[in-house]
Amino acid sequence: MTGSLATASSVARLGTESAFAVLARAKELEAEGKHVIHLEIGAPDFPTPRHISEAAFAAIEAGETSYCASAGIPDFRAAAAAYLAETRGIEVDARSILVANGAKPFLFFVVLATCEPGDEVVYPDPGFPIYESAIRFVGATPVPLPLHEERDFSFDPADLAERLSPRTKLVILNSPHNPTGGVLGSDDLAKAAELLRDSSAWVLSDEVYSRMVYEGSFASIASEEGMLERTILLDGLSKTYSMTGWRCGFAAVPDSLLDPLERFFVNTTSCVPPFVQRAGVAALTGPQTDAEMMVAEFLARRDLVVEGLNALPGVSCRTPRGAFYAFPNVAGTGIHADELATRLLEEAGVALLAGSAFGSVGADNLRVSYANSAENLNVALERIAAFLDQA
Ligand SMILES: Cc1ncc(COP(=O)(O)O)c(C=O)c1O
Repeated sequence: MTGSLATASSVARLGTESAFAVLARAKELEAEGKHVIHLEIGAPDFPTPRHISEAAFAAIEAGETSYCASAGIPDFRAAAAAYLAETRGIEVDARSILVANGAKPFLFFVVLATCEPGDEVVYPDPGFPIYESAIRFVGATPVPLPLHEERDFSFDPADLAERLSPRTKLVILNSPHNPTGGVLGSDDLAKAAELLRDSSAWVLSDEVYSRMVYEGSFASIASEEGMLERTILLDGLSKTYSMTGWRCGFAAVPDSLLDPLERFFVNTTSCVPPFVQRAGVAALTGPQTDAEMMVAEFLARRDLVVEGLNALPGVSCRTPRGAFYAFPNVAGTGIHADELATRLLEEAGVALLAGSAFGSVGADNLRVSYANSAENLNVALERIAAFLDQA
């Protein structure tokens, strides 16, 4: 007897990250012999600093290859707590730190741990697509908070006020921001904190690009009075230390969420490999020169890319103040951004992402990751210019 094999209906509510789909298509084109410049994926193009890899090798040699505590090894949790104190002036106990296989699992599990069907979640639009995916998966209601191009992609606190309701369970903030490179200023964060302080909303502050700020300084909403108690402050090793494949992220977590989140980890991934956490301790407590060198290099590339994009006909690009993304508006080219992204890959060999993959507000934009060499960025700009010239 054969029955029909069905998947759960909830699977249809899971979104995805177009960066991986575009990367796969770019690889196909490369396999056919075409040359593609990769501006689609959000991964620093530098090797992981040597002293970090060596800490992992030493831990493997020392036999740290078994399961370990789901919440993280004590040394990593202590190092992360000290790192948050140093980078944000935020004092948390090591036992408030949880470790996961990248920052990403926190995004999903925080939504699962805090929201029920019918709850509302405010999140940035445009924004990292996993936010909306997790919100929809759990059956909560997504409430997009528009980021305004004319405000260098920050939100208007009045928009936030309008979107908060007694049903708001979670507010997700991301600064520096993917996909726009926007950085939230302390004034806006103070206003947001004022609105949220007396609400019943948790705050998930995604700060994975915290070290990549080119103008002004980085500010965390968790530093605002009364906010730490309701904020999941999320950071990770992927971007700062060029460790995307190592899969290690960490968060400072309010007391009542520690046990629920740890249960998700016990139920799914069990633990972050102990030798990866040893590498993490070396990253967080060791020399920061490589991380700083990367930021200096990204700043030079940002200037190159923004200038190059603004010189293209019909393209205007705000100067991003953080992360390693530019989010040019291409409405003036007369070609819809979705079509332009596809054609640039297929016809010009430049892989980048349509802004619509991050929400409806970015429909006129492209996301350009400048985590690539200046040489390749120059070639990409020449290819785009030639394409627009003949289009
Ligand atoms: C805004 C944002 N949050 C979280 C992540 C996930 O990072 P991780 O590699 O630590 O899972 C990314 C990765 O692109 C990101 O852009």
